[in-house]
Amino acid sequence: MSPQYLTSKLIRKTRFVNIILFLFTTFLLFSLLYIISSSTSFFFTSSLSLLTTSNFDFCTTNYTNYCPCHDPKIQKRFKNTNHFRKERHCPNTNERLKCLIPIPKGYKTPFHWPKSKDNAWFRNVPFTKLLQYKKSQNWVRLEGQKLVFPGGGTSFPDGVKGYVDALNKVLPLTFKSGLIRTVLDVGCGVASFGAYLMDYEILTMSIAPSDEHEAQVQFALERGLPAMLGVLSTHRLPFPSKSFDMAHCSRCLVPWTANDGLYLREIDRIMRPGGYWVLSGPPINWRVNYEAWKIDPKVLEKEQNMLEELAMQLCWEKVAEGEQIAVWKKPTNHISCTQKSKTLRSPKFCNSSDPDNGWYTKMSACIFPLPEVKDINEVSGGALEKWPIRLNSPPPRVRNENNNDGFTLKTYIEDTRTWERRVSYYDTMLKSLSSGKYRNVMDMNAGFGGFAAAMVKYPVWVMNVVPFDAKSNNLGVIFERGLIGTYMDWCEPFSTYPRTYDLIHAHGIFSMYINKCDITDILVEMHRILRPKGSVIIRDNGDIILKVKEIIDKIRWKGTLVGNGTFDPQMILLVHNKE
Ligand SMILES: C[S@@+](CC[C@H](N)C(=O)[O-])C[C@H]1O[C@@H](n2cnc3c(N)ncnc32)[C@H](O)[C@@H]1O
Ligand SMILES: *[C@@H]1O[C@H](CO)[C@@H](O)[C@H](O)[C@H]1NC(C)=O
Ligand SMILES: *[C@@H]1O[C@H](CO)[C@@H](O)[C@H](O)[C@H]1NC(C)=O
Ligand SMILES: *[C@@H]1O[C@H](CO)[C@@H](O)[C@H](O)[C@H]1NC(C)=O
Repeated sequence: MSPQYLTSKLIRKTRFVNIILFLFTTFLLFSLLYIISSSTSFFFTSSLSLLTTSNFDFCTTNYTNYCPCHDPKIQKRFKNTNHFRKERHCPNTNERLKCLIPIPKGYKTPFHWPKSKDNAWFRNVPFTKLLQYKKSQNWVRLEGQKLVFPGGGTSFPDGVKGYVDALNKVLPLTFKSGLIRTVLDVGCGVASFGAYLMDYEILTMSIAPSDEHEAQVQFALERGLPAMLGVLSTHRLPFPSKSFDMAHCSRCLVPWTANDGLYLREIDRIMRPGGYWVLSGPPINWRVNYEAWKIDPKVLEKEQNMLEELAMQLCWEKVAEGEQIAVWKKPTNHISCTQKSKTLRSPKFCNSSDPDNGWYTKMSACIFPLPEVKDINEVSGGALEKWPIRLNSPPPRVRNENNNDGFTLKTYIEDTRTWERRVSYYDTMLKSLSSGKYRNVMDMNAGFGGFAAAMVKYPVWVMNVVPFDAKSNNLGVIFERGLIGTYMDWCEPFSTYPRTYDLIHAHGIFSMYINKCDITDILVEMHRILRPKGSVIIRDNGDIILKVKEIIDKIRWKGTLVGNGTFDPQMILLVHNKE
């Protein structure tokens, strides 16, 4: 016998043994399964899910209000100087949530807008600290099962109406003029300031950290107001430069003059040329107020002087100082500021680093030079139309050829039309965009903001999210249109609470992220932030949609493929959450 024959015989023999072994183990496994499954149904479901692709389970109840990037357990790993702990610190990939957030006991569908502005169900956001601690300031009250927001605040215990009226008197324009549309409220409390400005068709992005003002941002979102977790600490805010028409702080406790004026310089970066900076609370008008504040007048005087000095360095002009409010205006261009910088020691202009970066970018103590202009009367980067004309007129960043990132006016106009068409299709699909059922809307990949622009006719507001590394960064354009939004990396969780959005629009998100991170994590995050009766519209390429559909079944969502209604190579997956 040749050695070759021997080996082949040996191989045949081992193969035979293997087959017998395999059959035997399979038999054993199935009998075991049978025994387990017939004993208890619990074991049956869990072993079944091991065999098929497993469904996600619900997390334990202590995750009900979990914000992964603002988790106290992770925060403890960092030092707390300058509120560093309150910045985004997201879990590592292996720490990502692998379960679904449970809803609180007794949860009820939130009130529809506009009733939600002043009313929320206590069981949805069952937090009591502000009820007691801010009682005298009228932030929020409990009436039976309802939380009621009377519009109070630290700077406006008698109600925000009087405060805004006082502010309107000292501003050189009225809120009715349409000249102010986008506002940033830093240290917003329960966002009563932004709530009141809604009456003027002003959109306020309210930000605050999760701190001793328990659940303030969660309350704001429950009220149907644009808000997100945010803090001035070491990184830039997640917005492009030249964005907001106004920035506001009422006793927001940010040390504006500390660290070489780092925080006020950040405000300067994000304000558009000619924008207004409104500050109330210490040290404003300290001579009158120091006793009420119980703060040493010397300390306040020094703070006020430093503030004035800093504002001068930034070339801001003081427009008004009322009893409790001071207003500065950012210059519309830097012509005279540049001249001044030659004589003054300080106005340090930043040299490099893109002013529009706003994603984990460190703040720097310098002034971002505004785009050059030829004439002292010209607005840097181009003047904006009034609201609502600015919504659909060509934004300066699109008009301006120098800023042309491969998009043209033509593509912009086409984009606007496309989204008008798509949104009217969504309206028939969802049936109730006008009903007030949907209030907080998120566009996960906002592009030029065309979706949000087409949504303005409904009683909704849209958080326009632009992935920080999107092919063309148009968040600046979105702000120029009078819409609001933020940068984001969808490989990480969003800075919001669970159950805060009624409608999530995910256009091209999964084809964009499929090779960057696990898209299951993205869907679990969407599940976290969607309200129990919310809806999701996923629009993507057909092959991606099919992959997403599989995961959607696992997170217990019912997804239906709907006709795209247009001659589009994309498919739409519609999810109605029915928890
Ligand atoms: C006294 S409350 C005032 C709230 C509201 N502006 C009002 O007038 O009712 C202070 C607010 O500032 C926020 N805050 C404190 N430090 C902050 C920081 N570094 N960045 C952003 N917000 C901050 C707090 O979370 C809180 O919302
Ligand atoms: C919830 O409780 C479990 C068990 O005690 C713990 O392991 C987990 O970290 C907690 N989660 C949160 C978000 O606190
Ligand atoms: C920018 O560069 C100039 C000249 O090199 C320098 O004097 C200035 O200090 C720099 N500014 C900053 C903020 O680094
Ligand atoms: C929808 O998209 C698919 C490709 O995913 C395409 O084949 C189909 O023609 C589109 N439907 C309509 C009505 O345009």
